[in-house]
Amino acid sequence: MKLTALAAVSAVALSYGMSASAGPEAEVLHWWTSGGEAKSVAVLQQEFADNGGAWTDMPVAGGGGDAAMTALRARVLSGNAPTAVQLKGPAIQEWYEEGVLADISSVAEANGWDKVLPDAIAGHMKCEGSWCAAPVNVHRIDWIWGNADVLKANGIEMPTTWDEFNAAAEKLAAAGITPLAHGGQAWQDATVFEAVALGLLGAEDFRKAFVELDMDTLKSDKMVAVFDQMRKMRGYVDDNFSGRDWNLATAMVMNGEAAFQIMGDWAKGEFLAAGKVPGQDFLCVSTPGEGFLYNVDSFAMFDVSGDDKKAGQDLLAKLIVGQNFQKVFNLNKGSIPARVDVALDEFDSCAHTSAKDMTDSSNGGSLLPSYAHGMALRGAQAGAITDVVTAHFNSDMSSADAVKMLADAVANSL
Ligand code: GAL
Repeated sequence: MKLTALAAVSAVALSYGMSASAGPEAEVLHWWTSGGEAKSVAVLQQEFADNGGAWTDMPVAGGGGDAAMTALRARVLSGNAPTAVQLKGPAIQEWYEEGVLADISSVAEANGWDKVLPDAIAGHMKCEGSWCAAPVNVHRIDWIWGNADVLKANGIEMPTTWDEFNAAAEKLAAAGITPLAHGGQAWQDATVFEAVALGLLGAEDFRKAFVELDMDTLKSDKMVAVFDQMRKMRGYVDDNFSGRDWNLATAMVMNGEAAFQIMGDWAKGEFLAAGKVPGQDFLCVSTPGEGFLYNVDSFAMFDVSGDDKKAGQDLLAKLIVGQNFQKVFNLNKGSIPARVDVALDEFDSCAHTSAKDMTDSSNGGSLLPSYAHGMALRGAQAGAITDVVTAHFNSDMSSADAVKMLADAVANSL
């Protein structure tokens, strides 16, 4: 009798689309599929499982997340949003405006996020005052990674000016080594471009050009010089660069086929996952010039029904900003914690440089959002800029024409 009643109840529950078990569950959309990235996301998966959560993985391969964002759009349009999504910068606000994000303020307030997150980071996580995303880390974009043995064998130090970089590249090319490991994908072109732009424009003009979209700066002679340097960079990559994934470019530096890569510090996650030691096997130095380009990964929760999914969202959000997770995850990912109260003792020298430079540049007004990684601009504007960067990199377009095209593209995207 009792059993029959129970069976009837669960049949009703199931027919209403409710799950029979009420444990926290989450389907998580992310693009962390390289060696270092997969190791990092596994830390979250494990913590979620340890706390009774059932994780359904939805990885969408493709560095920089373009493919993941396309998959997200398709899921939301079909009325079947994932529970939690790797989402960052102004895209969080764009989805909020669509009315599809869940409010995670109760978790944020219960766990005192306002007290442990810097204002600049918290600002990206709030939508009209309520919390709509949970930050995982701070990645720095403007890094050069170098193969220590290759540089030593060729008598080259890590470059501190663009002239030094160019001189080193010429020397390496003459010795038969690919100077710059690069993957010809639009987001990787944009990553190199913004590092060059920060160096040659300086922090103030970078902000004017790629945060404020100031036309005079976009059309300036300094911007012509940025494209001149990009033309040089094009000459430093190998013949097979087109379409190559970023982690394969990192592997070229690891195995000595190439000397340098300009890439965010998820590249360090890749070196570490392969057992390489910073300062010994590979070297890190910020790209020449002032400033710090930040890229904060975060997760937004989508408005879904079902108590188990809502419990999953709350649990995930809580774990993501948790002290232990922020340490272990970032040790693997190559980034530094978003929380200010995580001890960095176990982190390597590149992470220490990152943390120090971030504080210094924040104090000096040169802490800037990465445009190439969706922190500075809305999708349409960032896309318009990247289209020009890629068109220039993959043709013999003059710098003057590229600058004109850049200004037109930005004006049309507004
Ligand atoms: C970035 C992301 C990083 C890393 C990289 C390559 O946009 O913020 O966490 O995954 O793409 O996939």
